[in-house]
Amino acid sequence: MNVLIIGGGGREHAIAWSLKKSPNVGKLYAIPGNAGIAQIAKCYPDIKAMDFEGILGFLKSHKDVGLTVVAPDDPLGAGLVDLLNSRGYRAFGPVKAAAALEASKAFSKEFMKKYGIPTAKYEVFDDYIKAVNYALSSKHPLVIKADGLAVGKGVYICENTKESKKAVDELMRDKKFGESGSKIVIEEFLSGEEITVLAFSDGNVIVPMESSRDHKRVFDGDIGPNTGGMGAFSPSPAYTPDVAAEFTENIMKKTAEGLKTEGIVFKGVIYFGLMLTSGGLKVIEYNARFGDPETQVVLPRLKTDLLDIMNACVDGTLDKIKIKWEKKPCVCVVLASGGYPGEFEKGLPITVGKLDEKVLLFHAGTAKSGRNLLTNGGRVLGVTAAGSSIDKAREIVYRNVERIKFDKIHYRKDIGIDR
Ligand code: AMP
Ligand code: GLY
Repeated sequence: MNVLIIGGGGREHAIAWSLKKSPNVGKLYAIPGNAGIAQIAKCYPDIKAMDFEGILGFLKSHKDVGLTVVAPDDPLGAGLVDLLNSRGYRAFGPVKAAAALEASKAFSKEFMKKYGIPTAKYEVFDDYIKAVNYALSSKHPLVIKADGLAVGKGVYICENTKESKKAVDELMRDKKFGESGSKIVIEEFLSGEEITVLAFSDGNVIVPMESSRDHKRVFDGDIGPNTGGMGAFSPSPAYTPDVAAEFTENIMKKTAEGLKTEGIVFKGVIYFGLMLTSGGLKVIEYNARFGDPETQVVLPRLKTDLLDIMNACVDGTLDKIKIKWEKKPCVCVVLASGGYPGEFEKGLPITVGKLDEKVLLFHAGTAKSGRNLLTNGGRVLGVTAAGSSIDKAREIVYRNVERIKFDKIHYRKDIGIDR
């Protein structure tokens, strides 16, 4: 089967790499793709993930595509899967009504409240004055979030009222994330250990993958602004069998029941962003897709054919598949452009020395210019390795990271230490 992947980050490179291992995958295409994906798939950099007409045009002229994998949040939230289905194309990813679990934080918080899924206490505001007053009179630290999508950056952890006033101002008054901030969620700060659980869903059953952990802050020691993710490891040692049982009972089953009751058919990947607090396991957020960089440490551990799983999700036959995992942990370190998640330069030449044989180099923001590899985004590359322990995997990853150079390179040195 020939497969089209929508997206062009490290996650999409990891998906393409995993699909490529399937004996049943024929040609791989990517829209827009990147320089790494281009090594294994035919990329169309002139069509963007949000160019729905361009994507339909591509599919019309490529009747050989049997499955379109929609990986990023924006096209999912905007209903690309609904559009593809309405034209008779098979697609892996949730329809718009299901992707709202991620695309609207107000919707997902209300969903959790309604179905008794543990989460931080919260209030929703669409009025600036009310939001400011509530924030100023709340206990801090306080968490303030844009309702809509904001490339992983619309969340403010505020230590004091000065910071929370600034957050409300940026979101609601200055519209830093556009209409995403016209409604905001203000919620209780949860402290504890963060855990990500990605899960396949076919609309009937939800099957969790191996756990992982992302490092979202830009600097070592979890300091600085939130990014899309600076590195990850899998599995998370905090995700013990007891915690897994708590997840299944209190969160996964209730999510499945809630979706069923709401009449929402979720086909694709549900991302459970969890916090292990002293008061139990709570959901920080849902995403409606594979996480990035989590995918770069989870998919390398998948032993089962990813195409078979994706097809089963689309066809509603996931209960027929036994999903198997490699025991060895994986670690991924993201190499970012200096300045990210703020302003950064693009077009800087990248040199990659000889890497150890089993190291995986997933491209995120890269582009080719002639024979030169150039930076083309905030997160540039992800270096992943497996090891007999997380520490061993860390050692291999960092040894190889040093062989990759570009001007103003920035990466965290402590990925996998705090666990
Ligand atoms: P989100 O986009 O909702 O995942 O938030 C991004 C990151 O902000 C999360 O991964 C957490 O690290 C942090 N965060 C979000 N909400 C909370 C909360 N209520 N308490 C503590 N940290 C939070
Ligand atoms: N790594 C967090 C996310 O994909 O949203």
